[in-house]
Amino acid sequence: MEENRKKILSLIQPTNTPHLGNYLGAMQNWVKMQEEFDCAYGIADLHSITVRQDPVKLRAQIKESYALLIAAGLDPERSILFVQGHNPNHAELAWILSCYTQFGELSRMTQFKDKSSKHPDNINAGLFTYPVLMAADILLYQADMVPVGIDQKQHLELARNIAQRFNGVYGDVFTMPEPYITQSTAKVMSLQEPTKKMSKSDENPNASVWILDDRDTIIRKFKRAVTDSETEVCAREGKDGIVNLMSIYAAVTDKSFDEIESEFKGKGYGDFKLAVGEAVADKLAPLQSEFQRISNDKAYLEDCMKKGAEKAFRVSRRTLAKVHKKVGFVVF
Ligand code: TRP
Repeated sequence: MEENRKKILSLIQPTNTPHLGNYLGAMQNWVKMQEEFDCAYGIADLHSITVRQDPVKLRAQIKESYALLIAAGLDPERSILFVQGHNPNHAELAWILSCYTQFGELSRMTQFKDKSSKHPDNINAGLFTYPVLMAADILLYQADMVPVGIDQKQHLELARNIAQRFNGVYGDVFTMPEPYITQSTAKVMSLQEPTKKMSKSDENPNASVWILDDRDTIIRKFKRAVTDSETEVCAREGKDGIVNLMSIYAAVTDKSFDEIESEFKGKGYGDFKLAVGEAVADKLAPLQSEFQRISNDKAYLEDCMKKGAEKAFRVSRRTLAKVHKKVGFVVF
């Protein structure tokens, strides 16, 4: 790690294959950031068990998510690619930080309120302290910037408050993390309800395109995309479905809206939808074949995970050692 480069950290939950919106909005940006920053990217397995998981499925999803990071272009040599649970420092710092976090602060987290009303039979303590674990993830690596979606902004704000409070008592221990709001290429909306964001939890199987969907499935989903009763491919008020398809097409082909409008002048929505479906399938094809290759090479995947865990441990232990000393533990 070069000392003068800014540090980036982000984690994703392993539960659920990323959809096209996650890929275009987040993963592609992560890949680009490797050029400029020292990056650490992780699979948040510890976070995922705040909701009950099937163990066999979870294990498979952790491996799949990890392989996907590499397939998408994250370089395990250049960046730290790790599984959160492989590095015990996360849980350890989370405990310490929980003693510097107020009950009232955690009670105000909107995600806690949402999730506890959705799962009233399992409002476990982990669900409540989840943002403290996330703060630990961030502060352990002294991250300068944290790329997150808008839904995680409140958690990042809390991480900043915890850092500030801790630094206020003990001096400069933690770097203040800034949110890195992705100047994302595309905000991808649901293909079935284009005023709603594409979501992992959408019940309608045609609403989201998963990045591991095969070519035919992708094309079929785009053919069924909800549009409007007009015929003109252009970006106008009230044409949410078409605008969504245009911005997806723009993101995967690097064409501008003007170029797209003239490309489809005089053609119908059918041609346009097919073109978008094909362009998305073409864009995802290299990632998908790379994913297959990596998934079949179990030894390589395991080796990357182990090396990632070691690097993650080493970098984060420095922070934790400092914390131990500051709070007054006995350090040898
Ligand atoms: N909570 C985040 C999510 O559900 C995942 C996450 C865990 C994370 N730790 C993080 C994101 C640290 C950024 C930084 O999406």
